[in-house]
Amino acid sequence: MKLAILGGGGFRVPLVYGALLGDRAEGRVTDVVLHDLDADRLGAIARVLAEQAAGIADAPTVTATTDLDEALRGADFVFSAIRVGGLEGRAADERVALAEGVLGQETVGAGGIAYGLRTVPVAVDIARRVARLAPDAWVINFTNPAGLVTEAMSRHLGDHVIGICDSPVGLGRRVAQVLGGDPDEAFIDYVGLNHLGWLRGLHIRGRDELPRLLADPGLLLSFEQGRLFGADWLQSLGAIPNEYLHYYYFNRDTVRAYQQAERTRGAFLHDQQARFYDEVRHPGTAALPAWRDTLAEREAAYMAENREAAGVGERAEEDLESGGYEKVALALMRAIARDERATLILNVRNGTTLAALDADAVIEVPCSVDANGAHPMAVAPLPGHATGLVCAVKAVEREVLAAADSGSLATAVKAFALHPLVDSVTVARRLVEGYREVHPGLAYLGRR
Ligand code: G6P
Ligand code: MN
Repeated sequence: MKLAILGGGGFRVPLVYGALLGDRAEGRVTDVVLHDLDADRLGAIARVLAEQAAGIADAPTVTATTDLDEALRGADFVFSAIRVGGLEGRAADERVALAEGVLGQETVGAGGIAYGLRTVPVAVDIARRVARLAPDAWVINFTNPAGLVTEAMSRHLGDHVIGICDSPVGLGRRVAQVLGGDPDEAFIDYVGLNHLGWLRGLHIRGRDELPRLLADPGLLLSFEQGRLFGADWLQSLGAIPNEYLHYYYFNRDTVRAYQQAERTRGAFLHDQQARFYDEVRHPGTAALPAWRDTLAEREAAYMAENREAAGVGERAEEDLESGGYEKVALALMRAIARDERATLILNVRNGTTLAALDADAVIEVPCSVDANGAHPMAVAPLPGHATGLVCAVKAVEREVLAAADSGSLATAVKAFALHPLVDSVTVARRLVEGYREVHPGLAYLGRR
């Protein structure tokens, strides 16, 4: 089994390789090819992987290349985890939006639109190459904004591209723990778009335990996602929203906190990662411990501004464990490769799941996975306000896809202007101008 990892010099690749090292079963991945545009970063991550594999018999082989087609040829699985424009680009996405008084965030609001406009053309190029060079491969997309990027790729790869995110699983597991249940036995009734979904039920041994959580403010305040929204608001909603909905329900508060922060998340990560890659470049450094320390620092500061805006304080030990996107990715590959049925929350085409969206709209929903891919499961309908938000944001995503396709400036303006977190067409116009000034990756807008 050959796995190609695009964005192979990326910081989270050791998580994926660590998960592969733990897989001893038949049909496991035996060859990993890392692809990245940056040979230095590839070298640094390859060193971390070599230290991870030390002493482990039959560890998957690792090769690295800067040639995309070579990486893709003959791949059974392709992980796409690229960051177009790097962390510098992410910091600019955040900065330009915040300067206009609207949310600058990696995947949400104006920042997410800018990132999508830069990423979609690159993702589409990758999808076309996969279709040509590895037509039977399954593409697992982690590249953010994950739902939008998965939809862009699905136009070329159909259901052979599946998007993943760890936040719904992380939320479900945390809620199961708080309720004293076994996270591995719980069915998480969750649906929406990526970073825009709601947990409406948590079934353990056939019983929905969510009402017990919602009735108990003490329990609601005992985990981070609960504290972020507050017990009253969660009781009003009757559901637990994905943590990224904090940017919607508490928009002014989060924008203010982001504006007041010393630097944006992207700028923090940019400096932190630059230090890490620099350190690991020196021969003789132990790469794996440096990587672990950097990861711990990164996780501790996750959503720091949101937590500050909500008065939540430092992260608790129990809240630090994420849903583990590498675990989701491995479980997905195993289910497909071995035809072992698994239930996973994934980003796939809607089909008839959410009545308000068309069949090709990519949504995030529990899926039953087997050798034929991921099949969305039936879920309870979303309440009206959530359907409204999902439709509004999907409409924005469609404008982003149209702008990436046509290069039309007017369509790009429309994408920003229609977003629920952008409050004026004038602001949308200024955002497009501001982003075009700082992003070489947006030069295609207005040119084609
Ligand atoms: C969560 C999100 C991911 C995101 C990750 C890291 O797990 O679901 O989409 O990539 O956080 O965020 P960060 O700000 O550390 O890059
Ligand atoms: Mn995510």
